[in-house]
Amino acid sequence: MRIAVLGLGTVGRYVVDALESERELFSARLGEELVVSRILVRDQGSERPESVRGRITFAVEEILKDPEIEIVVELMGGYEPARSIIEAALKAGKSVVTANKEVIARSGPALSLAAQPAADLLFEAAVAGGIPIIRSLQESLAGNRLQAIYGIVNGTTNFVLSRMQREGGSFVEALAEAKRLGYAEADPSDDLDALDAVRKISILASLAFGGWVDVDAVPKEGIRGITEVDIAEAKSLGGVIKLVARAEATPDGLTLGVSPTLIPLGHPLADVQGAQNAIYVRGEPIGELIFQGPGAGGPATSSAVIGDIIDAARSRRVGGRSVALPREPAPLVPLGQHAHCYYMRLRLHDEPGALALVAQAFAGAGVTLRSVRQPVREAGISVISVVTGPTRRAQLEDARLSLRGCPSVLAEESLILAEMESLLP
Ligand code: NAP
Ligand code: HSE
Repeated sequence: MRIAVLGLGTVGRYVVDALESERELFSARLGEELVVSRILVRDQGSERPESVRGRITFAVEEILKDPEIEIVVELMGGYEPARSIIEAALKAGKSVVTANKEVIARSGPALSLAAQPAADLLFEAAVAGGIPIIRSLQESLAGNRLQAIYGIVNGTTNFVLSRMQREGGSFVEALAEAKRLGYAEADPSDDLDALDAVRKISILASLAFGGWVDVDAVPKEGIRGITEVDIAEAKSLGGVIKLVARAEATPDGLTLGVSPTLIPLGHPLADVQGAQNAIYVRGEPIGELIFQGPGAGGPATSSAVIGDIIDAARSRRVGGRSVALPREPAPLVPLGQHAHCYYMRLRLHDEPGALALVAQAFAGAGVTLRSVRQPVREAGISVISVVTGPTRRAQLEDARLSLRGCPSVLAEESLILAEMESLLP
């Protein structure tokens, strides 16, 4: 069976190598040989390995118009032209395997409608790298009423935060290393500003709860504002900061969000290190499940891509479609309806009464405080960290408004959701 691979970067390279080095194994599993006959790249000036040179093309039409190519593996990234190429391939009756969460989160249902009957659209690698979470939700857990999904679904940000926590390195150094290891997106803002995690939790929630989530409606907060002070404060409070994506079914609809979250040590997500991802799923009758494993990088991602290629190849020979995507929109409920604890770092003038004014701002909004600490005091400046008790977002916003009007408050420097119930007395 002939395959074309679009993209020969971090993931594409591993996929092509593995399909060739494990040719016999995969042939035995499939009962047929998989042959990579064409590889699409963009940069005509780049040197390519000898082993692939004869198969490189810069013209996608050569692939789309070749009737012998049955599976197109899209590993280019970005929204366009990837989306149009996937659509054209599906319309041409080719099965498509992709790792592209941006395309699936924005256009998954429309693309699945475009597919010809024999053509599958598979995207296991789009969420949580090597962890088989898409198939688990679509197949193994299909007999459950799912209630909640929480997870660390971005390897780059988890790598950066773990590095800062464990080795005390700077944000910039940790990010440079994540890029070098191939974890980061082509534009790492997608990782740092939580867009990537929003796309992933939207895909998971759409599959788990049965309505398509609008990615633009999901509230998000990235990790750029987190400093060594927050990391040290979290440690003193007995916790760690992780970028957590959450989706919960409520009687009124779904709540979704991605934000840095202070979680207590001992929590199942607290010890997820480096580019590992972990996804907690709760449902009836299954109860609680945790999936954990490598969430980014060429080798882990190639595992999911090749699994999909073999699945797509099998289904072309024996028939049957693997994936059904919900098409109706999922009603989202604002996260703010739930009460959460929050961690906040504030920069104050170091002057008498400053702390009293801060306390008043919170008290005036009906927000209780669990902890107030002063990790930094220097040249007329005092940096304090505050942890609130369970608070609705609207109350917190009232307190923030009062703080902004407070003459002693110079700046609010970070705001982090805190799953603190077990952390503080
Ligand atoms: P990458 O290293 O940036 O590689 C992209 C490849 O696609 C390059 O070979 C590039 O060609 C080619 N390409 C890009 N735009 C193209 C265009 N318009 N026409 C033709 N070729 C084009 O990306 P990656 O890290 O492998 O990621 C690929 C996809 O997998 C993305 O959707 C990403 O989100 C997803 N993913 C990545 C990871 C990871 O850990 N890296 C994990 C899971 C999912 P040149 O070689 O000519 O530049
Ligand atoms: N940039 C993504 C991450 C790649 O760091 O998780 C895997 O999807």
